[in-house]
Formats: sequence, structure tokens, C-alpha cells
Amino acid sequence: MYNYQLHQQITESLQQNDLDIAGNDNLFYTRFVANASSINTLFTELYGHHAKSKELFAVLIQTMINANKNRNAVLKSKDEEKAIQDHWFLSNEITGMSLYVDRFCGNIKNMEEKLIYLKKLGVNFLHLMPIFQSPQGESDGGYAVSDFRKVDERFGTLDDLILLQKKMSDEKMYLMLDIVLNHTSYHHEWAEKAKQGYKKYQDYFYMFDDRHIPDQLDKTMPEIFPESSPGNFTYNEECKKWVMTVFHNYQWDLNFGNPTVFIEMLDNIFFYANLGVDILRIDAPAFIWKQLGTTCQNLPQAHTVLRLIKLCVQVTTPGMALLGEAIVAPKEIMKYFGTGLYTAKECDFAYNATQMALQWDAIATGDTRIMLAAQNEILQKPYGTSWITYTRCHDDIGLGYDDWMIEQTGFNAYEHRTFLKNYYSGAHHSSTARGALFSVNPKTNDARISGSLASLCGLEKALQEKNKPEIELSIKKILLMQAHSFFIGGVPMIFYGDEVGYTNDYSYLNDEGKNYDNRWMHRPIIDWQKNKNIDVEGTIENKIFSSTQKLIELRKKLSVVADYKNLIWLTPHNIHVAGYLRHAINKKLYCLFNFSNAPAYVTWYAFKEHGTAAKKLHDHWENKTYDVGADNEFLIIKPYSFCLLEQQ
Ligand code: GLC
Repeated sequence: MYNYQLHQQITESLQQNDLDIAGNDNLFYTRFVANASSINTLFTELYGHHAKSKELFAVLIQTMINANKNRNAVLKSKDEEKAIQDHWFLSNEITGMSLYVDRFCGNIKNMEEKLIYLKKLGVNFLHLMPIFQSPQGESDGGYAVSDFRKVDERFGTLDDLILLQKKMSDEKMYLMLDIVLNHTSYHHEWAEKAKQGYKKYQDYFYMFDDRHIPDQLDKTMPEIFPESSPGNFTYNEECKKWVMTVFHNYQWDLNFGNPTVFIEMLDNIFFYANLGVDILRIDAPAFIWKQLGTTCQNLPQAHTVLRLIKLCVQVTTPGMALLGEAIVAPKEIMKYFGTGLYTAKECDFAYNATQMALQWDAIATGDTRIMLAAQNEILQKPYGTSWITYTRCHDDIGLGYDDWMIEQTGFNAYEHRTFLKNYYSGAHHSSTARGALFSVNPKTNDARISGSLASLCGLEKALQEKNKPEIELSIKKILLMQAHSFFIGGVPMIFYGDEVGYTNDYSYLNDEGKNYDNRWMHRPIIDWQKNKNIDVEGTIENKIFSSTQKLIELRKKLSVVADYKNLIWLTPHNIHVAGYLRHAINKKLYCLFNFSNAPAYVTWYAFKEHGTAAKKLHDHWENKTYDVGADNEFLIIKPYSFCLLEQQ
């Protein structure tokens, strides 16, 4: 509802800051006034009970004004361009890669020359894994940040980052960085001050004198790293308090119940926005609100915090989209796109982690029925939002989809998951995978899976055994997995190294700062000598790179792949085949994937069920055209192969 007093407060604040509300700053002013009452409502919902809530709201307004003042003219004009494009990030022309700068090429400065390699592949969007200051050995791959604004010297300097962003922007490449919202390193200045006894900073965290409340919380809070960091609290000798540490014991959870924490972290978000970040990855948002008697995950207030962030960003630095890294159950994930009045007004992106895990399920079993059972829920994603689609990332693979999805196909959920864990850790006799179990919880028997795309698809074993047919088969699996995630809708995010088939790297076992975390096995150090093979015909690197390149090219060419809620799953005609239709006015692209090790038969009737029946289909992957046959005749898809069939 329109609130006159608020309107006036904003007008006055902007004028006091010498902003030209009728001229240059008019767009900012208009966005501010249009969203002010929602911002106020959300802020009050979270912090209205706070004694200083009114003053703090004024601080929030000032923080937004400062950030907009600090936004340079280039970024402001990009904001306008993106607004005109309307949902710029739904485009089929964006393909991402996620990489560790140091492991990819040493440091930020070296990234510039590597842009040529990335452009050659077709990648035009980079997720640089955390590069801000983080104590070595206790960094969780950079997710334990000790200074949100200082680039860690291992990677270079802030100036290097600014130069790289400029270069990327000139090359029309997008940038993604992380904001690690849920916690800081215990060496962050706030944590150091808290340890020294400053009450103000102790209130930035969850700190307790004794185990009374921690014990109660531990009863309902699951453990994230039960092996390396059991429980959710760590005793700090310096201040003699128990501190909440949901992840590792060196990552202290921030207290978002404290409005000052919210404002400080929002200011850090604006700092990243003003560096030119196009998509901000909000790390672990499911955890940002804690409440006694709950799992302290996915709480309604966590969504309120995200909505408030979204609105503040939309007003202040609107060209930056938000990705919520919530790796949660299918029903929960939808809520991160916003619900009710806030539908499509929370995170612009989420990871399609359920789909990713289901692809791993399908390729192990050769059966796509569980994947299909999950789609009803996945398809609830609102228009205007999108997925990051992927097969592998720096993290483990969790089998977090619902039991009923498994049971619907007649399998026992517990046994099925046990099979998958055995399959991917290489323990099952039928397995070609070389992975490992991650974070085994002895109390619940839960475990996730580590391993690189290539090793999980059988390349490592095939290479060890010098088995040529198996090598070829593993390459087919790799491409099948990638193709499925490239065409299903959303921005594909390749994990660096997967474009050339890096297998597991076991050197992490010799590093004390890493050997407690087997996710490092799938975070390779790039050997550029090996990568040169992309140009040597017939090498594994060449085969995987050139095919990935072709997939990206096809995606860019086929506008029907843009994510406009234009996906229909095909009626299952064969349990081994996953098939979906991407459609737009007068355009149809049938994407079919055979997850089994035998040829799959699909009746031609499958292409006659959706509007005008197809007469001819052109497969963009094999570059061949089919005449659609009678209903009792079949399209045959080779083992672990796929087709991208455009209706002619
Ligand atoms: C996210 C990151 C993961 C990290 C965790 C804690 O899930 O992807 O790597 O360990 O957050 O920050």
C-alpha cells in the first residue's frame, strides 16, 4: 500500500544526499518510491520489534543511497539495457563455467588470457569461486571469509578483479561471484572483536555461555559435515562461549535476527554489485534464520530476508540478478523463487539440484522413471525465474529427492539409495564409477557423493584398464549428461575441467588443509599441457571439448531453448528414455536421451501428441533428417545417446 510518509522520507533523504531526483537520479528515485512500502513491510516483519527499528530503517535507506551513488555510469547504463531486454538472464545465449581461479590458471591476472580459451568453448558467463580473503587451511574452498572486500593475495588484488571484470564486460561476458551470507571465518574482524569480548560483535553471532540452548538446538538441527565437523556448536576458549558453527568449526554463523548484521551484509552485497557482478550467488541461504525447535533450515524468515535483499537490489543495483544456492528438497526449492505476493520476486535463479541428482540416478540404473516422477514439482518454477542447470559442481551430489518419487516406480527408497551410493563409490560389482562417499552420517546412514564427472561416468576406470570401448562409452555418458542439462531450460553451468574430462585428483590427501574433505578430489588443478590436446584430433580432450563446444553452439542457435516456461515432458514410451519438448510459437524441439546401455526404441507416435503431428524431424546433434514413420515403427536411439529433433 502507498505510504505518503515513507514517500516523503525517501524524497528528503535523496535530496539531502544531493541526488537529482527530477533528472539523472530519477530512475533510482522512481524505483525507490515504487518499492518503498514493500521494503518497509518486510523490514518491519523481521525487525519491527527492535527498540531502534525506525533508526535502523533510516540506516538501511542511507545504505541504499550510498550504494547507488557509488554505482558507476557504465553499470547504470547496463542496468537500463538489461531492464529493456526484460529478463535478460532467461536467454539461450548464456553458458557458464564455474572455476577456482588459482586451480584454473594461478591468479586473476592470468585469467585474462584464458578468456580466449573460454570463448573458444562458447562460455560467456563465469562463476569465480570465492576469491575474497580466507585463512589458508581453514577456508572451506574460500567459503570461510575473513574479509568480504579484500581479494585474497593468493589470487591477486581488487584492482586485478576490477580489470578482469572490465575486460569480460568488453567481451560481453557475464560475471558471478559469491556472497557467503550465512557465516564468516572465525578470523573475520567481527569474530575477532567478539572473541575479545565486545558485546556489539558477540551479537553478530550466536554465542552462549553454556550448553543449555545449544543442547536444545542440537536436538533438531541436522549435521552438515558429521564426519569432519560434528554438531552445530564449537567452544571458543578466548571468550569462553559456545558459538554456532553449522558448517565447519571455523565458520561462525551470522545472526540475521540482528538488523545491523542484515544491513552490513546488504552493504557487502552492494559492494559486489558495484564491482559489476551480473549474478550474485547467495551461498547457503537455507540456513540464514535460526529458531529453537526447528531444523533451522528453510524457515519463513529466511525467505523474508531474501525478499528484502531482492527488493533492495532491484531498487539500488537492478542489473544484478540473484542466485539462491539452496540445495534442498524439491518442494522447498520452489519457495526460493518466492510465493504468494512475492512469486518470482525472491531469487531469480536456483540450482536445479534435484534434476542434477536424478540424472545421476538415471545413468546408474538406466531407468528414467524416478526422474519423470519428480518433474511435476520441478515444473512449478514460476515464469520469469530460471535454473542453473549442471551435472557437476565443486560440491558433492546429494540424493535429496523425495522417497515417494523412488517408491512410485516400485523401488524401496532406502535400498535404492544404498545401491546408488555403492554404485558411485565403486563398491557395486556393476559399477564403472570411481567416486567416494562424502559426509557419511553414522547415525542416519546418510551420505552424499564426491567425484568428477569423468570419473563418475567411468573414464578413470576405463583409462586404468586401457579399455578402449569403455573409454568411448564413458565419453558418451559424459556428453549425454551434459546435453540433458544444457537443453532442459536454465543457464548451463559447466564445472571447469569437465569440458576436457578431468578424472579425480587424489593429491588433496597429502594436504592437511584439505584431506578431511574429499570434495577436493573433483576440484582439479588444470594442466594446460593436457588442455592443449583440445586441438589434437582423436584425443579424449579433443573429443569432449569439441562436442561440448557443439552443444553450446546449438544452444545459442536454437532460441526455443530459452527458459520461458516452455518445457513439456513427453509421455513415457520407453522407461530408459527421458524426453522433453521445448516449444515456442511455430517451433518445436524434441530432446530425447537414452540412459541405458542398449539401443532404445521410441514409437513415432511420441511426435504426434503435441499439436500438429511431426512429419519430418531434423536431428541437430547428428545432423540428419528423419521422416516420421507409422505409430508401430520406431526411432532408434543408440546406447547413452541423444537426439535434438526439430520439427520441420
Ligand atoms: C555452500 C558451498 C559449499 C560450502 C558451504 C558452506 O554449500 O557450495 O562448498 O561448504 O556452502 O559455506
